[in-house]
Amino acid sequence: MKKVRKVVIPVAGLGTRFLPATKAQPKEMLPLVDKPIIQYIVEEAVASGIDEVIFVTSSTKRAIEDHFDRNFELEYRLRQKGKREQLSEIYTISDMAKFIYTRQKTPKGLGHAIWTAKELIGDEPFAVMLGDDVIDSKTPALKQLIKVFDKYQDIVVGVTKVAKKDTGKYGIIDPVPIDENTVEIKRFIEKPSPAKAPSNLAVTGRYVLTSEIFDYLGKQKKGAGGEIQLTDAIAKYIKKRAGYACIYKGDYYDCGNKLEYVKAIVNYTLKRKDFRAPLKKYLKNL
Ligand code: UTP
Repeated sequence: MKKVRKVVIPVAGLGTRFLPATKAQPKEMLPLVDKPIIQYIVEEAVASGIDEVIFVTSSTKRAIEDHFDRNFELEYRLRQKGKREQLSEIYTISDMAKFIYTRQKTPKGLGHAIWTAKELIGDEPFAVMLGDDVIDSKTPALKQLIKVFDKYQDIVVGVTKVAKKDTGKYGIIDPVPIDENTVEIKRFIEKPSPAKAPSNLAVTGRYVLTSEIFDYLGKQKKGAGGEIQLTDAIAKYIKKRAGYACIYKGDYYDCGNKLEYVKAIVNYTLKRKDFRAPLKKYLKNL
């Protein structure tokens, strides 16, 4: 049985929905309380058993590389000031996993970003996590997907239930139920209107793929928005082989969207013991 050890995290997108904040900094580095979004994602990967993190970056995303590297000067100054807690916190970030970086020279779409990691993946199964999608859950969402992969040894996408009126914002699957948390995917439909949507199960930022997906991504066919889309490649793959969806238990936030990001901040701040009571009081009085 092949184990999932590697994750590809594409972070080379332009982040146009979050301008002007993303003019000079990556959206993936925006904080939720005091940790950047991307750190939550890497922590979820590590807690799911991943030991190699492959970032697909671009020239404007250097801050992400620096965040997961050592910062000797800062470490020295914290040591001098006796700030042991902060020192150990920043020190452990670079030790979480093995980090590898590859560049996507032009943002030709998510499918193309994953294609750039082909040589680094080889013939292993691998996970994909979108760099701006956080999922708050007891059991890490990716771990839930990997459990399904271990059983079926074929593609698994993470899905969550969305309001029927919102199906037009997502990739929606046509499901064949297997059990409470797993369905087989009959087909994908990109952003269907509520009337045309076969379900309300939306694809949301987590995937486990087999290396055969590169045969489909390699065709480099442009899809929606003139971009090379991952969902197009998965849709073709599923026609030849099987594909599954894991209805993970957890709350999904698309932090590339301004309002969803604000909701994520409120959620993650309320989860913090030190901020919960004062924030609740503040919100109540607003
Ligand atoms: P998004 O769909 O959020 O696209 O990508 P985007 O370009 O980052 O943002 P908007 O839509 O312009 O606001 C989902 C993930 O895929 C990465 C992004 O960095 C993000 O983490 N991505 C997207 C790439 O790495 N390369 C691409 O060409 C497109």
